[in-house]
Amino acid sequence: MTMGLRAFLSPPRTALLASIGFALCASANVYAHSDHERNTLVPPGYTHYAPSPVPDRVVLTFAGDPATSAAVSWRTDTAVENPRAQIAPALDGPALHQVEQTVAAASVGLTMENGAALHHSVVFEGLEPDTVYAYRVSGGNTWSEWFQFRTASDSASEFAFIYFGDAQNAIKSHFSRVIRQAYSDMPKAALMVHAGDLVNSRDNRDDDEWGEWFDAGGWLLGMVPSVVAAGNHEFHKHELPDGTEEQRLSPHWAPQFRLPKTGRKDCGIRFTTSTIKAPASWFWTRPPP
Ligand SMILES: [Fe+2]
Repeated sequence: MTMGLRAFLSPPRTALLASIGFALCASANVYAHSDHERNTLVPPGYTHYAPSPVPDRVVLTFAGDPATSAAVSWRTDTAVENPRAQIAPALDGPALHQVEQTVAAASVGLTMENGAALHHSVVFEGLEPDTVYAYRVSGGNTWSEWFQFRTASDSASEFAFIYFGDAQNAIKSHFSRVIRQAYSDMPKAALMVHAGDLVNSRDNRDDDEWGEWFDAGGWLLGMVPSVVAAGNHEFHKHELPDGTEEQRLSPHWAPQFRLPKTGRKDCGIRFTTSTIKAPASWFWTRPPP
């Protein structure tokens, strides 16, 4: 089910413009083909997305002012000690390690069908606006590659972003095509909006589906910040002792995405998302005074 998304201009930056790239994705309709008995490319009984000492599932997000901060999350196995990330101005050479700043990570354990994992995250703060930085994240006696990203401008300026609907089904098979082509068309996109139902999570193979989502996006997810919203497929039914049911957010969500705890009122553009169950007025409220 697709999420509703709106972006509105917030005074005093009403001159700020946004270019939007819409990338329709592998929906359930596309997925309705003869292979529909499986929702991933991972053969049943095979473990393809087990966590290891090598960092994976690296995803850049916002957890504060995008002009001066950025957040990154990643995954390793549980043997990794002293998880941390390093960030440096993007020099035109390999000496990044000589000018880096190291930030200790927060870690959360999560055990799924592919094994026990640690999900780590850091928030880089005190960055310069409109500046290219390089960062890397640690694993077990190793590092990820250096990823690059540009902080947002601290003044009104035009930018582009890419909007993705429901990746959800046959993600590696089809969403890979969409996200890669979208990035090829808009390589300077400032962010990517994932507007809900990133995975299907109805077959008890949630970690394989998330593995495919990160596999499809690959290094793009480490370079272009993602704005993610949970769709109804990111929620699971849980039966309560009294026989009633409640919807709970996927255990993958919080460990995988380092997000702001609260919204901001002073940003130039605000992205708000809500499930279709939210009141309609939620979608159409006026910009704040
Ligand atoms: Fe959906």
